[in-house]
Amino acid sequence: MDRDLLVLGVETSCDETSVAVLRGTSQLLGHVVVSQDAHRVWGGVVPELAARAHLRMLDQAVKAALAEAGVRLDGIDVVGVTAGPGLIGALLVGVAWAKAAAWALGKPLVGVHHMEAHLFAASLDDARAEPPFVALLVSGGHTLLLWVPAWGDYRLLGATRDDAAGEAYDKAAKILGLPYPGGPAIQRAAAEADPTRHPLPRPLVSRSHTPVDPEFYAMSFSGLKTAFRTRVHELQRAGSLEAEVPHLAAAFQHATTDVLATKTLRAVEQTGCRRVVLGGGVASSAALRAEIVRRLGAGGELFAPSPRLSTDNGAMIARTALFRYTRGETAGLELNARADLPFPNLHRGD
Ligand code: KG4
Ligand code: ZN
Repeated sequence: MDRDLLVLGVETSCDETSVAVLRGTSQLLGHVVVSQDAHRVWGGVVPELAARAHLRMLDQAVKAALAEAGVRLDGIDVVGVTAGPGLIGALLVGVAWAKAAAWALGKPLVGVHHMEAHLFAASLDDARAEPPFVALLVSGGHTLLLWVPAWGDYRLLGATRDDAAGEAYDKAAKILGLPYPGGPAIQRAAAEADPTRHPLPRPLVSRSHTPVDPEFYAMSFSGLKTAFRTRVHELQRAGSLEAEVPHLAAAFQHATTDVLATKTLRAVEQTGCRRVVLGGGVASSAALRAEIVRRLGAGGELFAPSPRLSTDNGAMIARTALFRYTRGETAGLELNARADLPFPNLHRGD
């Protein structure tokens, strides 16, 4: 029966207004992602602008997703919405809209955790992206390494101690004078450049780590960013920055990828599970995908969502809402948004 449920997924946690209509676990009937370009001139997301843009765009995005799906709003069975974590003003727009819709339709409402949703994204492209797997969630706000024996059972292996991986990309791009968002800009600039010309550190990566060390899975990107900034300033003073921008971008991408792939492969070795799922905006990094595939070798499988499902989107929210709904986890009209919503069913260790 669940296979036929029609779920509306609403995502407004950051700077994408996105709505999806999903039938069952995998049929994406309608999907609209509106990226807010207004933030580009500021070099990062401006929270109030984001909230106002969601308020302006959400109703149109819902209508467009329903039209694409050929479904009327009253044909929807479940309304799912990102309840956190994220920018509070932005989240509130989606949550208030979803509550009103669920109430008016008399249909169940499900509050979704944004990072759990990133975990489900790959399964929308490839039905084999099911637990058990090792997961690396790398977005603009979070960097989490998880062991996932089953949906709804999440073991935290490691996380960043400072900046998230995507945040580090965004800051590095800004230092180089490249546009926001930084990840795609760095990837473009780095194409065909030499990643070894400017050596950069690999924080918290040491061959001597053993699984009992707290550093075994932990990650850190702020020291890398500082070393990067120092190198950029040196080249600037020497007047040779412009010609080095592609090589600097490649060096930064190489270092970040090395850290992420090293920690992920440690989890693969420790769990004995050679199946890896990527999620979050940084999962669209071609360098990261290629490096993990290379290190997994024959017998390993990497599931990475297509770029559209890697970055923020309503489809993953709808998929996660369906999962929570089938577990009987619906929300009442008192549902609130939380900027720091804790990851559901997350336990320490493996
Ligand atoms: O998941 P997401 O869309 O939003 C958050 O929930 O934060 O992730 C956005 C992040 C940005 O920091 C962006 O620079 C990064 O994903 N990103 C990339 C790439 N594409 C997007 N980072 C590295 N390489 C990419 N190709
Ligand atoms: Zn995200």
